[in-house]
Amino acid sequence: MAMAMNRIAFISSPSVYQRSSHHHGYRSSRVFMSSTIRPASAEVTNGRKPYLPPREVQLQVKYSMPPQKLEIFKSLEGWANDNLLPYLKPVEKSWQPTDFLPEPESEGFYDQVKELRERCKELSDDYFVVLIGDMITEEALPTYQTMINTLDGVRDETGASPTPWAAWTRAWTAEENRHGDLLNKYLYLSGRVDMRQIEKTIQYLIGSGMDPKTENNPYLGFIYTSFQERATFISHGNTAGLAKKLGDSKLAQICGTIAADEKRHETAYTKIVEKLFEIDPDTTVVGFADMMKKKIAMPAHLMYDGRDDNLFEHFSSVAQRLGVYTARDYADILEFLVSRWNVENLVGLSGDGHKAQDYLCKLPARIRKLEERAQGRNKEAARNIPFSWIFGREIRA
Ligand SMILES: [Fe+2]
Ligand SMILES: [Fe+2]
Repeated sequence: MAMAMNRIAFISSPSVYQRSSHHHGYRSSRVFMSSTIRPASAEVTNGRKPYLPPREVQLQVKYSMPPQKLEIFKSLEGWANDNLLPYLKPVEKSWQPTDFLPEPESEGFYDQVKELRERCKELSDDYFVVLIGDMITEEALPTYQTMINTLDGVRDETGASPTPWAAWTRAWTAEENRHGDLLNKYLYLSGRVDMRQIEKTIQYLIGSGMDPKTENNPYLGFIYTSFQERATFISHGNTAGLAKKLGDSKLAQICGTIAADEKRHETAYTKIVEKLFEIDPDTTVVGFADMMKKKIAMPAHLMYDGRDDNLFEHFSSVAQRLGVYTARDYADILEFLVSRWNVENLVGLSGDGHKAQDYLCKLPARIRKLEERAQGRNKEAARNIPFSWIFGREIRA
């Protein structure tokens, strides 16, 4: 699924996090008043049970879709068979990570690794931090499959359910699984990053899960995935463009290939929501507005490496500075979806539906205005932050 989140959205979202950037919680309140980075020796030495996730979310709304709406998703199974599943690529026609990596069985393996390292020589620490954050986000895939299987009416009831909804989710997961796999192997071979710290971050992140605020509600769930697939399409596309500029054409090809998958997934998820708009416009438009009011949380928002309590915000701010994923992109995605689903021209809405429609149509401009004002402040607040992923080297965040 997706990567860096909109910084603004994260910072201004309601404080449901036990440990936010404003109040360090149980673990760090005494030791780290002035810094959010804990020294390596202080990792996870709180009084809490060590197997609990480092970042937890509270106040979660559940089961917000009225049970009678389940029928809609049941009745859409034929539609999903004919219109959703064709967006999957057959395994035999799919790319695999090894297509882009040195061949360990060949004699030239060591030379190929050398070439890979030579090619990525010009990639900066900034760039690596963003690519690593993207990779970690992809690697937390178990969480995203879980998230989709929280949704009423479309979840995979058995783990091998034959419904088209469940078949889609499993095959989508299987396609996505190649993304983290490929980026992980590439970064490992580059020799430029602290793989152990990265692996720890992945383990922490999967242990913490995510809070997309989709309330077991497939209307909200598919709006969320539509947004996220487009967000990842944009961010992987931008890491591709930067890699090319910095001289690593192979990495550009890797990121571009992943971006193409995300685009196809975006098309599929937006098609589902388009269908929901067609048969139940009121609920769908109110759901869309609801998701935007809550702000689209990025999938890796609970990221933690054992050291930096604000790792996700730091990563996001580097992604923002490099132009890989920005607050402007957040507004652009929203604007794209509003137009893709023809929100402006919906008719026959209830009072709430009208309000939601109005809110959504005006929101992109509002976000852009807020963003302009925030930008100056962000620049002033920027400072050098050590990232454990690159051996503690500092970069501006
Ligand atoms: Fe994705
Ligand atoms: Fe992905």
